[in-house]
Amino acid sequence: MEKVSRLEFLKKLGFGGAALMATLCVAGLGTSSCKSNSASTSAGSKDFTLDLNQSAYADLKIVGKFMVVQDVVIACTAAGTYAAVTVICSHEGKKQVGYRESQKDFYCTAHGAVYDQQGKGKSGPSSGGLRVYNTSLTGNNLRIYS
Ligand code: FES
Repeated sequence: MEKVSRLEFLKKLGFGGAALMATLCVAGLGTSSCKSNSASTSAGSKDFTLDLNQSAYADLKIVGKFMVVQDVVIACTAAGTYAAVTVICSHEGKKQVGYRESQKDFYCTAHGAVYDQQGKGKSGPSSGGLRVYNTSLTGNNLRIYS
């Protein structure tokens, strides 16, 4: 009987390219290019300031509203108070995290992961958390930084 490696076996089954990579990742046989939960939570450091007087950021003056700027979900959680987390979900890395005023939490619309305002996983498929950014409001300038 011919001995073949797992990779050769999958190739013989007709898996190739992206399908092969997806199979390897799902099967835990992956390479360093496979996404892991820990890798997907590591968004880059940030430091930017938004002028809330600009119409583009007007929603951020309304309690319960949120915006995504530079891959950061910025939510106005109370008058003059903000929470900021990465938009990249720690489950499968989709950029679908938003803020829910009704629950006062962050929620990923892809598969339903829920995070508290400190980025800690509350429920859903993700066991990881979200990267949290600092916020600082000075006048109408809202700074988001690592
Ligand atoms: S990618 Fe967010 S819950 Fe799956």
